Amino acid sequence: MSKTRVLTGVTPSGIPHLGNYVGAIRPAIAASQNPDTETFFFLSDYHALIKCHEPERVHESTQAVAATWLACGLNPEHTTFYRQSDIPETMELNWILTCITAKGLMNRAHAYKAAVQDNHEKGQEDPDHGVEMGLYCYPILMTADILLFNANKVPVGRDQIQHLEMARDIAGRFNHRFKSLFTLPEVQIDEDVETLVGLDGRKMSKSYGNTIPLFESEKKLQKAVNKIVTNEKEPGVPKSPDESPLFDIYKAFATHEETMAFTQMLADGLAWGEAKKMLATKINMELADKRDRYHELMAKPSLIEEILQAGATKAREQARPLLDAVREAVGIRILK
Ligand code: ADP
Ligand code: TRP
Repeated sequence: MSKTRVLTGVTPSGIPHLGNYVGAIRPAIAASQNPDTETFFFLSDYHALIKCHEPERVHESTQAVAATWLACGLNPEHTTFYRQSDIPETMELNWILTCITAKGLMNRAHAYKAAVQDNHEKGQEDPDHGVEMGLYCYPILMTADILLFNANKVPVGRDQIQHLEMARDIAGRFNHRFKSLFTLPEVQIDEDVETLVGLDGRKMSKSYGNTIPLFESEKKLQKAVNKIVTNEKEPGVPKSPDESPLFDIYKAFATHEETMAFTQMLADGLAWGEAKKMLATKINMELADKRDRYHELMAKPSLIEEILQAGATKAREQARPLLDAVREAVGIRILK
């Protein structure tokens, strides 16, 4: 039986945080250890250019995100681990797919619609003010990333569900019009994964500057944890899990029993300060070794580069034959 292909990308547009780890990196690495799957993980650096026009940030983040995956246990022997921009086939496929994608489909994309809505709310006359083609065509590039490897399953956050629907739509259109070359990918949403809340009460996100970075020093970790919003309840006063985002973060790092015990301690009046110490200790226990490995890797960019290059070679061996078939199907062939 052929293995299930699982593929996902992480955009290097900032420094990874606890939410990225709990929501994406940890489950993806666990999935890569399943012998029935074949995994493709990549750094979507071309996607980073859509939201980030700071070259240094993209560059530094690429190294940080790659080092994070490796430090968290990704084994490049078992996973095809690569950087999107090292796969020129992605761009070739991107154009071919662009030529069969309805403009109307892109008009409906959430990211584009949000930009239009934003202009409307600001009283901007031109609905497309400030919208670049990268943002507009972003779902096509993501489709190319996925179809190029004929992925069966794509684990992503809920905000990406629409993009997977678009990828299926575009794949179906190609298969119908030219030749049935593409697998229709399925979205994979992990129901158990909590969306961690950041230091300002909104979703923890690189875009909001409200994160607890994954690999800060132990001291800085405790400092960041101390900033998690709680309420005025004094020590000794019973507290419940929904009174602070602190609880969900604890839960994401603890066993079921530990979480039950923590709930009881809060009900018995545990002080917020103590709860924060317990949380930082818990996070630190899971991350301390990984943090050391992360810093070792960050000091060796050429080692990371070597791993990514080897990954790109493996990825291209898969991508090239499919792209050749795609070119053939659309009529781009050698003359003979
Ligand atoms: P960010 O919002 O920080 O830019 P991304 O959009 O790059 O994060 O998401 C990368 C991955 O991390 C996605 O799979 C996403 O679902 C996951 N993720 C991001 N933020 C969180 C969070 N606060 N809680 C859980 N998972 C998250
Ligand atoms: N757009 C995704 C994000 O911002 C990252 C991404 C790019 C991706 N290409 C992909 C995810 C292909 C899954 C499959 O989170």
